[in-house]
Amino acid sequence: MENSWRFYRRKAGSRRLILSIPVSHRVYLLHELRRFIANAGWKYTGSYGTQGILSPVTSDSFHMTVLGRNWGRDQPLNDFLVRPIQATDRDWVESFIKSHWGSGIVVARGRVIRPGELDGFAVFKGKRPVGLLTFRTDGSECEIVTIDSILERKGIGTSLIDAVRKKAKAKGCKRLWLITTNDNLSALGFYQKKGFRLVAVYPDAIEPSRKLKPQIAMKAANGIPIRDELELELDLTE
Ligand SMILES: CC(C)(COP(=O)(O)OP(=O)(O)OC[C@H]1O[C@@H](n2cnc3c(N)ncnc32)[C@H](O)[C@@H]1OP(=O)(O)O)[C@@H](O)C(=O)NCCC(=O)NCCS
Repeated sequence: MENSWRFYRRKAGSRRLILSIPVSHRVYLLHELRRFIANAGWKYTGSYGTQGILSPVTSDSFHMTVLGRNWGRDQPLNDFLVRPIQATDRDWVESFIKSHWGSGIVVARGRVIRPGELDGFAVFKGKRPVGLLTFRTDGSECEIVTIDSILERKGIGTSLIDAVRKKAKAKGCKRLWLITTNDNLSALGFYQKKGFRLVAVYPDAIEPSRKLKPQIAMKAANGIPIRDELELELDLTE
């Protein structure tokens, strides 16, 4: 059998293979594997063992629980709550950032930022956090540092953008901006649907970032080399 990551659903003592991802000898980030699962129409509910960065050699010590098919794509999730991050959220926010971003730091435009210490908004389904956005303001500018949605295409990302846009406007910001990378085609699609414009490309900006954060993979899960930073902005004066 081909060497691969294999995801099973456990039920009543039996297990059923639901997804198989060929192992190339690259390192995966946990959120990349989770994206594979979501794209295959399954719902990720949790994992234990190795967190964050997964290489084929760590597969024995990593366990992921996948429960049930998603209940329909493109269907809005109508029972979620969006609220600002509070002091009591700090622990899960820190581990959420670590599992989605490979470490507690993000590097963008040569700056090392710790999203776990920033202001932000979280989306909850019941008690479970299903989305998180962190941001920082600097004068008349507001920067989205991270945004993650666990249940994609159900309006969670949109609700986070709406919340930060409202906050930034209330703080008198004229511009909401962010940095993403050339490989992140889904984020590029999402931001543009939300009205963001591409305003700058920084070729090869990831090379120095990788020195500050070695966890940044050479290639994304979709096979695109991660090389350039892209700056997108939303004009808040309109
Ligand atoms: C980008 C991300 C936050 C979007 O969150 P989401 O909860 O799926 O967003 P929504 O459900 O609110 O989708 C909003 C719109 O974007 C569209 N969209 C979402 N993913 C898309 C994709 N892959 N390609 C094109 N459009 C997309 C949706 O169809 C929807 O369009 P509509 O308003 O016309 O219906 C989410 O995909 C994610 O967490 N990605 C992984 C982390 C990441 O890359 N973050 C950005 C780092 S810079």
